[in-house]
Amino acid sequence: MQSSLRLGLAGLGTVGASVIRLLNTHADILSLRCGRPIVLRGVAARDRTRDRGIDLSHVNWFQDPVKLAESPDIDVFVELIGGSSGPAEASVRAALNAGKHVVTANKALLARHGVELAALAEKRGVSLNFEAAVAGGIPIIKTLREALAGNQVKRVYGILNGTCNYILTRMEREKLSFETCLKAAQDLGYAEADPTFDIGGFDTAHKLALLTSLAFGSEINVDAIMINGITGITLADIEAADELGYKIKLLGIAEITETGIEQRVHPTMVPKASAIARIDGVLNAVAVDADFVGELILVGPGAGGNATASSVVSDIADVARGTALSAMMGRPAGHMVPYRKNDVGRLQSGYYVRLSVYDRPGALAAIATRMAERGISLESIVQRSRAPRADAPDVSNRSNPQPVILITYETSEAAMNEALDLIHRDGNVSEAPHFIRIEQL
Ligand code: HSE
Repeated sequence: MQSSLRLGLAGLGTVGASVIRLLNTHADILSLRCGRPIVLRGVAARDRTRDRGIDLSHVNWFQDPVKLAESPDIDVFVELIGGSSGPAEASVRAALNAGKHVVTANKALLARHGVELAALAEKRGVSLNFEAAVAGGIPIIKTLREALAGNQVKRVYGILNGTCNYILTRMEREKLSFETCLKAAQDLGYAEADPTFDIGGFDTAHKLALLTSLAFGSEINVDAIMINGITGITLADIEAADELGYKIKLLGIAEITETGIEQRVHPTMVPKASAIARIDGVLNAVAVDADFVGELILVGPGAGGNATASSVVSDIADVARGTALSAMMGRPAGHMVPYRKNDVGRLQSGYYVRLSVYDRPGALAAIATRMAERGISLESIVQRSRAPRADAPDVSNRSNPQPVILITYETSEAAMNEALDLIHRDGNVSEAPHFIRIEQL
């Protein structure tokens, strides 16, 4: 048996503690599978006193993750600190420069600096591994990079944030408020340290940027992504979607078009019968549409300590076996294709539009006219009666706005934005129109 593989692990949050538990629980089987023992030599974390339920008495403690990254006592640096800059970036760079392999779950860091770090790893002759950075426990990185190496990918999309899917599912099933569901996701350890990253769609965008690059061989470009989060989704939207035969999911979608790459993150209404609509709770799903294999979909837990630890340890095992790839993105960093962005105005989809319309003659007709002027065809219009508010007992009050829902046939994003802008300016609505794209996935 070869000599042991020595790890230094920085960041002892939910995932870090789970990685150590997994390594302890499966030490024997991992040693057999990898042909050598894997040993934890050092850890770096801010708070040494916190009880994490794991025995760390035999490992060296480092205050500074950079010092751990450079330690001659380790072969692999496992970065679980998080964040696109600061100690995470500094320690990953230090580890690569010191000739250590790196395993990271840090999508924000790679979405910003991935190609540059890949080039650095190649130059130093070490590997940079990131299975846990996208979709928690789902092995989508290896699937795209290795299992689908013989395919040209046309589209990749999915539910990439466990927190958002958990929130939307509980709101739909239990009619709970957004805030209650978010708090529960935080308590379960699904959410990022700053949950704005989850609910604002940025976590999904970071993951999508990595998938896009792996799928199309293009440079990583998170700034090219159109991002809408789930904070504007109300229980009324979820109930209306349900009545119309849809569910609302936060999707990340990347597609190659004739005019460039389209990357977007937004709440999406998907038919209840579609595979993606049935992915509930903290589960993630990633669908890949490729030329030779056709369509495949991987489903699994997208967040949580144990699921993410499973992916981290799969990367560590690759290094231990000597099977980790030197080209992190599946091709040399110098051969990534320059990113060509598609104009989002060209996007075609159906739309669900929620308006708050003043109850006066001609208001609906004026709205329908604005849609028609932009060539948008309406599939249905539903006027929902709003229960009278305690402070507005006179229900015949014509200034009391009523919720109106429009469903459109497929149209362009540019036409929709123009029509909604005009409708808002016409003054028949009391607030900016709210829309959700409809995809027939
Ligand atoms: N906060 C993330 C999620 C964790 O909810 O999916 C995994 O990246």
